[in-house]
Amino acid sequence: MSALIDNLLWYSIVSNFRQNCLSRIGEGVDSSIEAARRSLRAGQIVAFTGAGISAESRVPTFRGADGLWRNYSPESLATAEAFTSDPHLVWEWYDWLRGLIHAAQPNPGHLALTELQRRNPKGFTLVTQNIDGLHERAGSHDVVKLHGDIWRLRCTTCGREERNEQVPMDHLPPLCRCGGIQRPAIVWFGEMLPEAEWERAVEAARQANVLIAVGTSALVYPAAGLVKVARQSGALVVIVNPDPTPADDLAEWILRGPAGEILPRLL
Ligand SMILES: NC(=O)c1ccc[n+]([C@@H]2O[C@H](COP(=O)([O-])OP(=O)(O)OC[C@H]3O[C@@H](n4cnc5c(N)ncnc54)[C@H](O)[C@@H]3O)[C@@H](O)[C@H]2O)c1
Ligand SMILES: [Zn+2]
Repeated sequence: MSALIDNLLWYSIVSNFRQNCLSRIGEGVDSSIEAARRSLRAGQIVAFTGAGISAESRVPTFRGADGLWRNYSPESLATAEAFTSDPHLVWEWYDWLRGLIHAAQPNPGHLALTELQRRNPKGFTLVTQNIDGLHERAGSHDVVKLHGDIWRLRCTTCGREERNEQVPMDHLPPLCRCGGIQRPAIVWFGEMLPEAEWERAVEAARQANVLIAVGTSALVYPAAGLVKVARQSGALVVIVNPDPTPADDLAEWILRGPAGEILPRLL
């Protein structure tokens, strides 16, 4: 009986510990941050970010409670099928999203990654699934963008790409000079990732001593597979996320909390 109670007590201590802060059972919050911080001094670092890093800039994540727009789920709008059947509706959504992103500012999480790159430009690769451009606005450069860029448009007829930062757009759907309908130059569900970007990301993950995954649900493949690639190549994995993710089992340290609070503490 007492063993059972001990076990229950231990379980509750451990699970509270895991819920409240950081994994690596037996270490305190600050010491885990300190250990993760020390590891970031070594060798090659890959930061792999998802929608969560922009949540504190008030850009909604796809899976968060405020991800819905006029009762449409992003998963149903961010597809080639939705665009073919109603380009105007899909563009209305992206026009709204571009407005939100335009009004947003990079947060301390973005800025902390910019600072990491500044300190170690040759040993740092930033790979993002985000399309919002907030890493660049925070001063990061050479960002590997796995899912494209909401500020670029691609013609569905001639394939020509151009940058477009108009907010709101004056004509929906926007048209190419060839007359074709333009789409956002981003990767929709069911589409292939840009080959060169993906190869760069995999190569960086293979070479990494540390991969720090920030604000990603680790559900969207193949991007989420990068964590495993890094781990299997011997990298130490650090996760920054307020909630559990399927990649947690691969992590050496899980830093539970908002990116804008945790990342500056890693510097
Ligand atoms: N800002 C953007 O560019 C943006 C926004 C929404 C979706 N997307 C696209 O949708 C896909 C969704 O996949 P995903 O994994 O990037 O996002 P996701 O929406 O699936 O998951 C977001 C993750 O962020 C975590 N999170 C929430 N607030 C956080 C915070 N303050 N700090 C740290 N983490 C926080 C959540 O717990 C969750 O695990 C991506 O491929 C991306 O291209 C991009
Ligand atoms: Zn065209």
